Amino acid sequence: MTRREGPVRVAVLVSGGGTNLQALLDTLQHSPDARVARVISNRPGAGALERARRAGVPATVLRDPANGAELLDALGDAQLVVLAGYLKLVPRAVVSHFRGRMINIHPALLPDFGGPGMYGHHVHAAVLASGARESGVTVHFVDEEFDRGPIIAQEKVPVQPDDTPETLAARVLEAEHRVLPRVVLELARRIA
Ligand code: GRF
Repeated sequence: MTRREGPVRVAVLVSGGGTNLQALLDTLQHSPDARVARVISNRPGAGALERARRAGVPATVLRDPANGAELLDALGDAQLVVLAGYLKLVPRAVVSHFRGRMINIHPALLPDFGGPGMYGHHVHAAVLASGARESGVTVHFVDEEFDRGPIIAQEKVPVQPDDTPETLAARVLEAEHRVLPRVVLELARRIA
């Protein structure tokens, strides 16, 4: 079997501060299997863009996130696409082009607490309001709907009696920073 040329090129889509992007940058920095090749955002002010700049990774801000051709162009020769706090629905043409090679991380145990409007503290507030004793992280393949694609990995996180959406979010984020780099490396080795 011929081994591909160099580490798998990973593109990361972001809308926020980028702590999951940072976990990928830190983990893949010296990896022979995968590297963050480009960062793409729908928000020019996303803190994640500063992390990309500091790591010397090229970054793009989309003019129109609903424009599939623009996003495909920005993705370029990426082989694996990661949605890390990306809040926009990915256009159908891009989903089908990267089917099975595009993943998303969600801060809850899907299929519960997912879907349109379920992001950030909204998720954690809903988990607490439901009385659930545990929450967690889900990494799944991206399809045409928010948070619905086939699940790849999950990690459970306990809900504490005195939790607020902020304290639960912080505990879930710690688990995210473990799970996402692990899944990306597993998929990259499969693509190899
Ligand atoms: C994470 O909780 C992620 O699961 C969700 O959005 C948040 C992004 O956080 N989709 P960050 O920008 O990676 O810090």
